[in-house]
Amino acid sequence: MISEGASQDWGDTLERKIQDRTVRIGVIGLGYVGLSLAVEFAKAGLQVTGIEIDADKVARLQRGDSYVQDVKPYEVKGLIADGKFLVVNDYQALQDVDAVSICVPTPLSKTKDPDISYIAAATKEIVSYLHPGQLIVLESTTYPGTTDEVILPALRKTGLQVGREFFVAFSPERIDPGNAQYHTRNTPKIIGGVTEQCAQVAKALYELAIQRVVLVSSARAAEMVKLLENTFRAVNIGLVNEVALMCNRLKIDVWEVIEAAATKPFGFMPFYPGPGLGGHCIPVDPYYLAWKLKTLDYKARFIELAADINTNMPWYVVSKVVDALNERRKSVNGSNILVLGVTYKRNTNDLRESPALDIMKILQDKGAYVSFYDTFATELRHLDGATHVSLDEAIVGAADCVIIATDHSNVSYEWVVAHAQLVMDTRNVTRDLHPDPKNVIKL
Ligand SMILES: NC(=O)c1ccc[n+]([C@@H]2O[C@H](COP(=O)([O-])OP(=O)(O)OC[C@H]3O[C@@H](n4cnc5c(N)ncnc54)[C@H](O)[C@@H]3O)[C@@H](O)[C@H]2O)c1
Repeated sequence: MISEGASQDWGDTLERKIQDRTVRIGVIGLGYVGLSLAVEFAKAGLQVTGIEIDADKVARLQRGDSYVQDVKPYEVKGLIADGKFLVVNDYQALQDVDAVSICVPTPLSKTKDPDISYIAAATKEIVSYLHPGQLIVLESTTYPGTTDEVILPALRKTGLQVGREFFVAFSPERIDPGNAQYHTRNTPKIIGGVTEQCAQVAKALYELAIQRVVLVSSARAAEMVKLLENTFRAVNIGLVNEVALMCNRLKIDVWEVIEAAATKPFGFMPFYPGPGLGGHCIPVDPYYLAWKLKTLDYKARFIELAADINTNMPWYVVSKVVDALNERRKSVNGSNILVLGVTYKRNTNDLRESPALDIMKILQDKGAYVSFYDTFATELRHLDGATHVSLDEAIVGAADCVIIATDHSNVSYEWVVAHAQLVMDTRNVTRDLHPDPKNVIKL
């Protein structure tokens, strides 16, 4: 931790504003993470200003609409009407806020290296408006060292002193879209400050809106916590996907094996195979860690191996479909394939990194005619030559193969199996069908 200045007056001033709830909050980037956080702070009675560069999103929020599934339009509407939540596309608003949460994207470049250009752009704007008594919290997932090595030096150029005049912390977002039990308020929040005082003011602020705040010793440790959580998932999914490949060779039902293993009350946590990784976090975040380690001459072997297996899963799904068609004396070239569920996860509308899209592309490259059905991806009606279709008997029956890529709960899979010629079930949703359907293949 960096040593602090002698006086903590600005820290006291900020803490007083937090205690009497007059603290004004700015959130940069109103996507899945930023909008949920901004709304949570505003629901806690705080004055929140959201800064978003996408004009469409700004307009939608300003008229009381929401584009994030877990944030309900009536909540946005109410908070905007009450004047608790202001949405702007102008950074000038930063001059009037006491705390800023940065929630901008952290994607990968084409070569799978971290792209922190969004963080850099937001930081540049913050620097222009940084004033004594301001707290800056980075929420975007990133490699360990970003807060200390990218954000802090830029803010220090203002001449203000960290831990004394301004405060900096990292607090990873843990939002799980579509999770009915855990949401922003009741998911414990990790915070690591650049100094002890930074950690304390950030903790005091977040405790106004989040039930439990957990402090770690540094921003770096907090950055690593997030990467451990997501690398843990990526590696375990990679392991179970490889177990699926092994079971396929051994002619054993991998799903039966996992369910039985999961009866062990200790020392085993079930993960399930699938068509590949999806979403903005699990397929992306481990690369941030691997990249950082590469700069330190360390090869993150588990991450590389898991990524290798997981990115191959869409190809594996297609190979099983090709084999099944072959058994029926059909070629994939010229066949009609219907994909059910194209978002990356059950009952969500998020298409980012969805393996269903990879499966569709691979099949099209092999000459298949691909259509899809997904009522959650409401804005998507055409996808690189694939068209959205309705789910009726004629369409299901005409498909040479129906691939269940994402297991949304609003589809009757029993009905699908009853009317389809061939079903590739990548999610084991047909497990309870009796008698065992002969037209279903699984991972
Ligand atoms: N989506 C999740 O489930 C999730 C969960 C945990 C962590 N995260 C992390 O949180 C961060 C944000 O993710 P997200 O899913 O909310 O992304 P998102 O793409 O949904 O939202 C980011 C928003 O930031 C806006 N933006 C970009 N640059 C900006 C700028 N300079 N100024 C103002 N607005 C700007 C974009 O227009 C967009 O609306 C990422 O680092 C991600 O890895 C995401």
